[in-house]
Amino acid sequence: MRYRKPRETGSALPLSGACRGMIITPPGHVLLRDPVNNMQSIDYKSCWNARATSTAQALMAVDGSRDERTAQLTGAYSASQLRAALQLQAGDRVFELGCGAARIGRELAPEVGLWHGLDIAENMLAAARDRLRDQANTALDALTRSRLDPLADASMDKGYCIAVFIHMDKEDMVLYLRDVARVLRPGGLFYFDAWNLAHPVGWRRFDFEVNQAAQQPPGQRKDVARNQFCTPQEVELYVRAAGLEPVLTLTDSPWVQAVARKPDGSSDAALRAALGAAAAQIQYPALWTSLFDCILDAEFRGEPPHSALAALRHCALDDPLARMFRAWIHGAWTQRAADWGAPPDELEQGVNA
Ligand SMILES: C[S@@+](CC[C@H](N)C(=O)[O-])C[C@H]1O[C@@H](n2cnc3c(N)ncnc32)[C@H](O)[C@@H]1O
Repeated sequence: MRYRKPRETGSALPLSGACRGMIITPPGHVLLRDPVNNMQSIDYKSCWNARATSTAQALMAVDGSRDERTAQLTGAYSASQLRAALQLQAGDRVFELGCGAARIGRELAPEVGLWHGLDIAENMLAAARDRLRDQANTALDALTRSRLDPLADASMDKGYCIAVFIHMDKEDMVLYLRDVARVLRPGGLFYFDAWNLAHPVGWRRFDFEVNQAAQQPPGQRKDVARNQFCTPQEVELYVRAAGLEPVLTLTDSPWVQAVARKPDGSSDAALRAALGAAAAQIQYPALWTSLFDCILDAEFRGEPPHSALAALRHCALDDPLARMFRAWIHGAWTQRAADWGAPPDELEQGVNA
């Protein structure tokens, strides 16, 4: 495989501030960045604030959504996974650790009692506030360290953290998990994800980072918000060390997806059975992995994702996963129109179908 530094020309990069250089992102998750341009930030807060100086930039930074329509499609996809993973009920008090621009919160808040978003970056919270302005049962708070200080002990029924632990050091992930155990009520549930080092496509994504690191000047610190990776075994170890119990761990994609429960002394057999039955709604399907792999391939070559387009032609127009990928690819393609030409009509048609 040939590795080449991704091209910046025509990309929708948040080039201002210290964390410039995001190149291309897939639905739901920041993908590739150029670490050579990412070395100046020394803390999570300034790094993510610099990426979110407007709502549009914040959406771009959270998952590569170039417009509100794409953000709503990707948010709805993540929300549908969470509905099953957290067995959400109408009265639930739910928090999101690293809520970003409320990409997911906007979709979930109408279905729960309270949605409370927390983030290290005040600029992300400003974008979230903007997008949640019509939703009364929401709260937003800024974090200052790897703890959930604004939340009281045992005050929340459910919580989740998507595409956030992948951007922090393992020590901080464990500190946050410990505090998740503090703020959940006994029997409460928490869902989170991590890049899966033990999956071939997860490893391929990690290998990209390794090759980028090889290009770094000697002695330079690595990006504080770079992508980090875990094995499934490691994820379960962190969950247990934090005082939670793993009740579902899905590993058949580039993601480790985990549901953890705060023990309450009762049996979790019924919950495990329910989550087992809902696993297909929670996990990233083979099509997600295959489209992601196609996009990685295209990104490594600096070319349009033709093989992803070919795969999408076999999908039903109203398939939510396909629609989300079409919207995302359309945005990325439009941004690079100077290099790639106009996006094919089939993308726009597929999104609007
Ligand atoms: C890739 S975005 C994902 C946002 C949101 N979870 C979503 O899926 O749309 C990562 C988010 O994590 C936040 N974040 C990064 N490091 C953090 C930290 N150490 N503590 C809390 N939030 C953090 C960022 O500000 C950003 O909003």
